[in-house]
Amino acid sequence: MKRAVCPGSFDPITFGHLDIIERASSQFDEVIVAVLENRTKASLFTVGERMEMARKTTSKFKNVKVDSWHGLLVDYCKENSIQAIVKGLRAVTDFDYELQMAQVNLQGSGVETMFMATAPTHSFLSSSIVKELAHFGGDVSSMVPGVVNDALKARVAGK
Ligand code: PNS
Repeated sequence: MKRAVCPGSFDPITFGHLDIIERASSQFDEVIVAVLENRTKASLFTVGERMEMARKTTSKFKNVKVDSWHGLLVDYCKENSIQAIVKGLRAVTDFDYELQMAQVNLQGSGVETMFMATAPTHSFLSSSIVKELAHFGGDVSSMVPGVVNDALKARVAGK
């Protein structure tokens, strides 16, 4: 079985993530959306909340599962017999950081990273931008699924 992981903070999941997950799901037998810790970022949602949003928005993809992991991504790949890490590349600004992580992961474990070009309609989209807009009352309904939009509104309102 060809199994891939789409790793990320998913804080929260956006249409950009979902586009990559859907396209990965057509290339692999199984895709695991792994909600991981990024030590360089403070999160708005708990891991449980992020997983729930990811589950609700990926349930239509039959070969996609959602999981979480507190540790190195390569250890998760080893434990779950995952052959490939799939990541979206939005622009050249993503490249240095993503290349560095891909090389560290390859060197450490032999797990391949495959980059997918983000669809042009999503190239400006990030969870950080969505959170910034939502914080100041901006409309993010074209950037995230309804369930995520509702969760953002509630969190901004202090719930
Ligand atoms: O959505 P993000 O925040 O860009 O995702 C980054 C993430 C969570 C995939 C990355 O920080 C990660 O893999 N964290 C787990 C720990 C790890 O394996 N770090 C990379 C080796 S230095």
